[in-house]
Amino acid sequence: MRNIIDIITADMQKAFAAAGYDESYGQVTVSNRPDLCEYQCNGALPAAKKYKCAPIVIAKAVVEHLDPDAYSLAEAVMPGFINLKVSNHFLADYLEKMRITPAFGLEQIGTGKTVVVDYGGANAAKPLHIGHLRSAIIGEAIKRLYTYFGYNAIGDVHLGDWGLQMGLIITEMQERQPELCYFDPDYTGEYPEEAPFTMSELEEIYPCASIKKKEDPAFADKAHTATFELQQGRRGYRALWKHILNLSVTDLKKNYDNLNVHFEKWLGESDADPYIPDMIQDLKDRGFAVMSEGAIVVPVSEEGDKKEIPPCILVKSDGSSLYGTTDLATLIQRMQDFKPDKVVYVTDNRQSLHFEQVFRVAKKTGIVGENVELEHIGFGTMNGKDGKPFKTRDGGVMRLETLISDMTDFVLDRVEKSNFSEDEVRDTASKIALAALKYGDLWNQPSKNYVFDMDRFASFEGNTGPYILYTIVRIKSILGKYGEYKNLPIQEPTSSYAKDVMLSLTKFSTALENALKASSPSLICAYVYELAGFTNKFYHETKILSEENEDVKAGYIALIGLTKSVMEACIDILGFEAPDRM
Ligand code: ARG
Repeated sequence: MRNIIDIITADMQKAFAAAGYDESYGQVTVSNRPDLCEYQCNGALPAAKKYKCAPIVIAKAVVEHLDPDAYSLAEAVMPGFINLKVSNHFLADYLEKMRITPAFGLEQIGTGKTVVVDYGGANAAKPLHIGHLRSAIIGEAIKRLYTYFGYNAIGDVHLGDWGLQMGLIITEMQERQPELCYFDPDYTGEYPEEAPFTMSELEEIYPCASIKKKEDPAFADKAHTATFELQQGRRGYRALWKHILNLSVTDLKKNYDNLNVHFEKWLGESDADPYIPDMIQDLKDRGFAVMSEGAIVVPVSEEGDKKEIPPCILVKSDGSSLYGTTDLATLIQRMQDFKPDKVVYVTDNRQSLHFEQVFRVAKKTGIVGENVELEHIGFGTMNGKDGKPFKTRDGGVMRLETLISDMTDFVLDRVEKSNFSEDEVRDTASKIALAALKYGDLWNQPSKNYVFDMDRFASFEGNTGPYILYTIVRIKSILGKYGEYKNLPIQEPTSSYAKDVMLSLTKFSTALENALKASSPSLICAYVYELAGFTNKFYHETKILSEENEDVKAGYIALIGLTKSVMEACIDILGFEAPDRM
């Protein structure tokens, strides 16, 4: 279904042509003077230069050729703008089409295309903390946005499961329980099904080993060796590693579920490992990889670089591979298994240089084809009210679990409890808490830092997730009282309040298209906030259920029914949902 702007633009272009001017001047935009008109076309101004006459002359001539049925206002104003208001009839028609078309008529530009969204970035054996929050929230929204456009969007957590933390845990375990069969190099039997530790033990083992690494060089050496041997395939270490991985993934899934974040793939750095030797050999053979101070590197600096882009190091002088090596090998795996048209990475801004290097190597060596798009969405920091990265009260790193449960408790203290079962109160509170957390984050452009403010984010008023939920819940309640409404057609607006809601609804596709183009879910937040505002205004100014004329009432109900569906589609992309009551 064509976007309303495109429909009006096409009409305007026809009018330019009919008036004897080039149709390319007919681009229409949403008005920047909503007090005067809803849409505008400024094409007569540049056209005047070409046709060497006054813009107003062109504008006046063009207006004569517009479809009279479609506009309640079409006027040429000085110096040559064309101001438009769409007719009630046109508007109702458009929204009715939107109502009955899948995805509200959003053009499915992703059909037949695949995009891999690499987000989450969790590390095995380490609990999720605040630093992982934004990647999960933004990444999930970006993935859902792609899906909504018809893409086959594959979310991959790209688990950090292959690094030194594994060697550290193995070494620490060996010090604590050297008698375990995993450490006996001569052991040839089966390894136990059951892990020799629980998740909570693991959570104690890792930080303990991590401290030892800093204080005890011999321990650090052992951990490096263990990491190396693990990667070389030492049986006992692999078996232990599998235990760590299983426990971690179960725990991580539980945490991500609480955030309503779900990955299609749980691949990790280890899955890229088998591709590394051939990749390095190939890059050497083709002359891309060169020796530099004992390391194997791929130079990536380009003419015109504003700052120095250092070479991408594939193998360090001690023989170990690096973060970039894994990311390149992962690209080989992804191209082979998923054939993506695009790969999007959602990480902290501070990894920008890393991805710049990786993308350059991938492009120049042909690891990804010319038509494959690579994008890094870098995000800023979530800060505390002091403007510094968010910390726990005692200055530690806050676990994601704690943040979510703090937020839920905070909401729980404030929600309505009478007439609700205990389960419903809990469920509603967690839905509101999630909306508060996610909307508070996504409202900001990803690249910007923001201040985490529980009070503000959880408020039912103002620009917040709970306010959006509240608007939806209010509509749900009216619809519930009305009864069956799904087949009611959209009618022409009977007030300016209704028309404002309707005009706002027409902007749905444009809002999503802009969000996709800018890789910024914040534009969806801004849209849904605008729609909620007009909806609440309409609600306050209109007696909906007590309207006596049944026809008019049905029109109101159809309108808020569509509004609810559109708002729900938006928040579903943002990754949260509305309760039935609150
Ligand atoms: N695990 C990494 C970290 O904690 C993030 C991974 C992001 N994805 C990637 N393909 N590099 O920083």
